[in-house]
Amino acid sequence: MEYSSRVMKLGGCVLELMSEALGLNPNHLLDMGCADGLAILGHYYPSCPQPELTIGTPNHTDNDFITILLQDQIGISLFLSKASIHFVSLKSQSIVYSTNLAIHATFQLITNDKFVSSQHKVLANKIGPRISVASFFSTRSIQTSKVFEPIKELVSKDNPAKYRGTTVKEYVEYYRRKGLDGTSALLHFHI
Ligand code: OGA
Ligand code: NI
Repeated sequence: MEYSSRVMKLGGCVLELMSEALGLNPNHLLDMGCADGLAILGHYYPSCPQPELTIGTPNHTDNDFITILLQDQIGISLFLSKASIHFVSLKSQSIVYSTNLAIHATFQLITNDKFVSSQHKVLANKIGPRISVASFFSTRSIQTSKVFEPIKELVSKDNPAKYRGTTVKEYVEYYRRKGLDGTSALLHFHI
């Protein structure tokens, strides 16, 4: 509970900075509801004796706005695009934890590609177990009818909306139907 309230605070602060980076009022992304919901997944990856025979977690982008990932000293998930910001590293009881912030698909949609989702994957590893905690800023369980579309201030005649509006529910349902096949679910919403 303590961790979730702190991660909410951190995410709120990051979303304010991101609003400013987009040239918007600092509260813009918060007012849109980007930090209204938080889902936390605790991952336990057992050690794998023959990593070459398996695929780990395949290449994907998450289906939320932003993800804050806390991971232990064992290893890092691989981020393939530059949209991941490695922003905190702290020592706690001699274990080094690092935290990644990644920007994701619904965020790419509302920013009309100003922020691009990070493709990432997790490799199976002989060393383990590895533990990570992914905090997803997503409204999928609380808002079913709100439509998200490219932010009006970020589109113009010369830079028209690249995506149609969608609800988080519709996006997540399509994402799950499609599966983690290495392609982006966003393509389905491209105009
Ligand atoms: C995820 C994810 C990475 C990790 O949960 O979507 O990519 O290192 N996790 O556990
Ligand atoms: Ni992920």
